[in-house]
Amino acid sequence: MILRPSQREQVLPLPVALISTVSEGGVRNVAPWSNLTPILRPLDEIVLASWIKRDTLDNIRATGEFVVSIPTASMVDEVMICARNYPPDVDEFEEAGLAPRPSVKVRPPGVKGCLAWMECVLKEEIARKNFSLVIGEVIHLEADDRYFNDSGEMDFERAQPLSVMLGREGMWFTRPIRSGRFVHYVEMTAGRTPVHPDQNTPHSER
Ligand SMILES: Cc1cc2nc3c(=O)[nH]c(=O)nc-3n(C[C@H](O)[C@H](O)[C@H](O)COP(=O)(O)O)c2cc1C
Repeated sequence: MILRPSQREQVLPLPVALISTVSEGGVRNVAPWSNLTPILRPLDEIVLASWIKRDTLDNIRATGEFVVSIPTASMVDEVMICARNYPPDVDEFEEAGLAPRPSVKVRPPGVKGCLAWMECVLKEEIARKNFSLVIGEVIHLEADDRYFNDSGEMDFERAQPLSVMLGREGMWFTRPIRSGRFVHYVEMTAGRTPVHPDQNTPHSER
């Protein structure tokens, strides 16, 4: 089957995050985001792609701060309320019935009931005509202890982080499950000289 090049998102499982920001005037905003990725393991930056007409982008430009909260699969209804196009003076926490979770290092709150919270500051914006790539530095990262084991790894079968597969007419919300196979990072570097000191250390020993 040949797809159009612009259908590339239909073959990629994507994460779903909630990005919260605050406007210069103090209005709280939350929006779901899937075009979001860490920039290489084990660095501390993330990049997100935003259409130009987004209150989220306006607020990040104005304040330089945002929080990425990771919702559970049970939060789809709230996620979809936040996806609606509200005017910038509407508090989307209130609209979606979401409770704020005070942040440690930035002004925007995270979303209570989520699995983890990344507090970010704007590092760089790569602006195109209709969209922008926003590079943020994660300056504080916290997760709900209940879903993490002693080695600091998420039990994602219990936590059920939300993900999505996009289709032609809509999207299927999904969540990751184990495939039955675990590999150590060291398997990627077998036979090679490590290029980063972290690379040959099993995750559990870091
Ligand atoms: C699952 C999901 C993922 C989304 N991902 C993005 C995205 O990566 N970039 C984007 O610009 N909009 C994305 N959207 C659309 C925005 O969430 C939506 O337009 C929202 O109203 C923007 O709110 P804002 O104007 O308050 O920022 C996504 C929507 C959903 C439901």
